[in-house]
Amino acid sequence: MARDAVSEVRDRIGIVDLVQPYVPSLKRAGRSYKGLCPFHQEKTPSFVVFPDSENFHCFGCGKGGDIFTFYMLAEHVEFREALRELAQRAGIELESMPATAPKHDEHRLKLIELNGQAQTFFAHVLTKSRAGEVARQELTRRGVSDEMIQRFGLGYAPSGWDNLARYFSDKQIDLAQAHEAGLLQERDNGGYYDRFRERLMFPIHDRDGNTVGFGGRVIGDGVPKYLNTPQTPVFDKSSLVFAYDLARDAIRNADEVVIVEGYMDVIAAHQLGYENVVAAMGTAITEPQVSLLKRASKRLVLALDADAAGQMATLRSLDTLRETLDADEVPVPDAFGMVRFERKLSAEIAIVTLPEGKDPDELIRKSPERWPEIVKSARPVLDFTIDVLTRDIDRSDARAKSAAVQRIAPLFQQIPDRIVQGHYINQLAKRLDLDERLVLSEIRRARLKTTPKGPASQQPVKPARQSTEDHLFALLLRHRDLTHEVAMRVPADDLGDTRNRELLRYIVDPDLAGLTPEQLIAGLDDELADHAEATLAAHEGRPEQFPGQIQREANEVLDRLRAERYRFLLRQLQQHLLAAEQEKDREMVDALRQQLNTLAQRHAQYDPPLSPYFKDLRTPQHG
Ligand code: UTP
Ligand code: MN
Repeated sequence: MARDAVSEVRDRIGIVDLVQPYVPSLKRAGRSYKGLCPFHQEKTPSFVVFPDSENFHCFGCGKGGDIFTFYMLAEHVEFREALRELAQRAGIELESMPATAPKHDEHRLKLIELNGQAQTFFAHVLTKSRAGEVARQELTRRGVSDEMIQRFGLGYAPSGWDNLARYFSDKQIDLAQAHEAGLLQERDNGGYYDRFRERLMFPIHDRDGNTVGFGGRVIGDGVPKYLNTPQTPVFDKSSLVFAYDLARDAIRNADEVVIVEGYMDVIAAHQLGYENVVAAMGTAITEPQVSLLKRASKRLVLALDADAAGQMATLRSLDTLRETLDADEVPVPDAFGMVRFERKLSAEIAIVTLPEGKDPDELIRKSPERWPEIVKSARPVLDFTIDVLTRDIDRSDARAKSAAVQRIAPLFQQIPDRIVQGHYINQLAKRLDLDERLVLSEIRRARLKTTPKGPASQQPVKPARQSTEDHLFALLLRHRDLTHEVAMRVPADDLGDTRNRELLRYIVDPDLAGLTPEQLIAGLDDELADHAEATLAAHEGRPEQFPGQIQREANEVLDRLRAERYRFLLRQLQQHLLAAEQEKDREMVDALRQQLNTLAQRHAQYDPPLSPYFKDLRTPQHG
């Protein structure tokens, strides 16, 4: 699915088709459509639909917007429902709203409920039964406190083939469903048995804190060390983050998230008071995981052991790279992918290599006071990569130097900011004792090799031109404190994108005044959050400005937005007026003059009034 489902729905539905049933009087008038406004009482039509811009506006009551606004007003629903229902009508699946059909919702809820019941069962066995003794001992040996056992909801799956299956049967639970939830295995001859046996159970939560699956660790040695829930409708390893729900507040407070490798590492960190620590699911961190984490903080620190760190810094060959560029969503295990994430998701990723042979679990338990300093020593992914790749290169070995530059070059072209790019080119040149210009030309050559798609992809980092509306919202979001007063004056009905209209509500909400843009976005529905992030991202990389400049710019952009809108509406009315005059439709001419008047009045409320357009507006009144 396209990332921007909202635009997709808007494109597919078409505003005229949507509106027609609500406005039976709707008729074509030039490039637009006109009819009696469904939102207020009127006898002559002042409600106009503009198919070109997929917008509507009522010259009588002033309401306006896109298909979503219309639907929200007409059906009295919130944005969320409007989006869901219209998406369904358009046959578009929404990533963030897993279920369009309630049946599907119920199904997912059922699987979540079964996982919750399994957790209760495992926890009971661990803490309250004789069978749990061996697991309790193991946890004690590893230093896991009772408080952590509670907080993480740890449990134990006892030995035997059907403990959980029997527990479920007694509760009249459909075992086929428990199988679908990944908790039971199917026997060849029918029937089910427990998937997890003699394992320490780590519940895995979704972002809302629901248990959606488990990691089950053997006690002592054994293979596999961890048995995880298989892929199910509610358990998707590649998008879940272990302990995200428990860590979220701490991540926000610290404005940093530390990602470690193991479940045990996370538990140790939380136990010792470092609660902004999470783990990926035993795989390389993926894009959905980064974008989830980024909602809480865009500063990500990967704490890797020496092996993983080494792997991270090995860059793939150009050929593999090209494939990676073509595939949009690949799990990314290396520095190239990390830099790509940074750009695509505007995150900051830093890497710290842990002391040889130690995992965070041991390290934190042994000397907890060292943890902050270790995290602090994390280096931005590019610095880290350059370090690793140039560390062992002999400065007198020309070939080795050339090979190193060639390997690193594709990484550099992922850097959108020229100055940052220059900084790294300089750093690499120094490291290798090379002329900067040589490094630069190598990077240009690499660019030619990695962009096989022609002119469109040659400049992958150039942001699309932002509409006036999005430009305004980027400023309102990024600098909420400075632009609050501007936000209060934004005419919601004149916004062309319902998402901005929704954002406006949050931006001006006094209860949310203290939040950073990232925190604000974190609380939004996915579709809105994606839009807000894209708006900010398109705006990023601009030079620093003083507060006064930002305020001035916001004011100017707001004025421009109004001017554009009014110029547009004015032109529409004038065209209609012209047509009515030619047809000598007296009644219509009067109505349109009245509408021009209303438009002018609405306009005059703004300060400063839009002088040039305002003058235009007056003319027909006297004519
Ligand atoms: P580790 O082997 O480092 O496990 O794997 P750990 O959690 O630190 O456990 P201890 O300290 O040895 O008891 C790191 C992570 O990789 C995944 C798990 O998510 C684990 O936490 N993993 C590992 C698996 O999914 N399956 C495995 O067989 C091994
Ligand atoms: Mn470990």
